[in-house]
Amino acid sequence: MRTQVAIIGAGPAGLLLGQLLHLAGIDNVILEARSREYVLGRIRAGVLESGAVELLERAGVAERLHAEGLVHEGFDLAFGGGRHRIDLAGLTGKRVTVYGQTEITKDLMDARAAAGAKTVYEARDVELHDFDSSNPGISWTQEGGRKALGCDFIAGCDGFHGVSRASVPPGAIKLYERVYSFGWLGVLSDTPPVSEELIYVSHERGFALCSMRSRTRSRYYVQCTLSEQVDEWPDERFWKELRARLPEDAARQLVTGPSIEKSIAPLRSFVAEPLRFGRLLLAGDAAHIVPPTGAKGLNLAASDVHYLAEAFIAFYNKNPGELERYSSRALARVWKAERFSWSMTKLLHKFPEEGDFGRRMQLAELEYLATSRAAQTALAENYVGLPL
Ligand code: APR
Ligand code: PHB
Repeated sequence: MRTQVAIIGAGPAGLLLGQLLHLAGIDNVILEARSREYVLGRIRAGVLESGAVELLERAGVAERLHAEGLVHEGFDLAFGGGRHRIDLAGLTGKRVTVYGQTEITKDLMDARAAAGAKTVYEARDVELHDFDSSNPGISWTQEGGRKALGCDFIAGCDGFHGVSRASVPPGAIKLYERVYSFGWLGVLSDTPPVSEELIYVSHERGFALCSMRSRTRSRYYVQCTLSEQVDEWPDERFWKELRARLPEDAARQLVTGPSIEKSIAPLRSFVAEPLRFGRLLLAGDAAHIVPPTGAKGLNLAASDVHYLAEAFIAFYNKNPGELERYSSRALARVWKAERFSWSMTKLLHKFPEEGDFGRRMQLAELEYLATSRAAQTALAENYVGLPL
């Protein structure tokens, strides 16, 4: 078997890359370790920058997104018992769209199936070969036998725990990392959202976030410690804790109900540099992780893929130089989103080790944000997404 671009990973990064390459007439095969059902069962992010929406439009997969996605023109910051709206549209002229990553993944899988492009699910023990030569390849185990695929390039879109980044010789890659001392406990429930827009809450008990997937499905998070387990959080305890962190008016309006998903995710900032190693190119969570506070993870995967698809298209149009630029172009945007996600995380979470002084610094910054149009503009500009 041979293809032009072998893509490892059928998350949003791999699937979107596959679709953009397919539309440009570039043959590609996706290898995914898990089953289609497993990939679609994961509950992940939900906020899309307008640039990511435009990219999904260009990929021809935005029909359901436009029909079912919720366009948001602002969000609330809550602290000290009050709520302060950040008017994204008024400050930047841009909006964000709330549409679950799970739905995007499904739309991309459907488009791929309709295009007749090949995806191998449940590809076990994927190995990368000879990406430092002009003749790389991939091998894997499927139905008990070892399979092989030759290609021009390998796109490593296999997430943080994937095999692609791990296959790079340690001396060729530099890793930057910050691990936070807390996690997010998330609950999905078929209850109407507490508010039409998102509420990010900085509270003495810890951070909380009110988000949604639709007008009848809510997504809520509370900051928790890393030692806590999901089974220590029956629904009643979760709702009580969330309510305790919300401003009074929101707490009164909160509609509770049985959870349909509940999980704890650790928070991490991580960047690998560079993103290209000969004919292996990394994109999405394989290359970088942001804490979810800025809603940037999925959007960064989309912008990487935008640059990477452009670079492949240029290569096959006899302009190989674009591939050399991929890493620096993508990383320039990645680092700015890393900074924003880190600063939002520091602003809104409880850091016991920072003491009372640290808390007063957070409150002073939040007060400044609540009253300064300049500060709000800087926040809004980053939240809606910096230009590609
Ligand atoms: N071989 C093949 N596939 C693999 C391997 C492997 N060794 N390891 C991991 N994978 C698959 C995973 O099963 C997953 O489906 O790669 C895919 C990676 O997908 P994601 O983790 O969703 O990463 P990405 O596509 O970069 O999407 C980034 O996802 O988690 C969010 O916050 C993140 O929103 C961001 C987005
Ligand atoms: C979500 O809806 O899951 C979500 C929204 C905003 C964030 C993080 C997660 O910042």
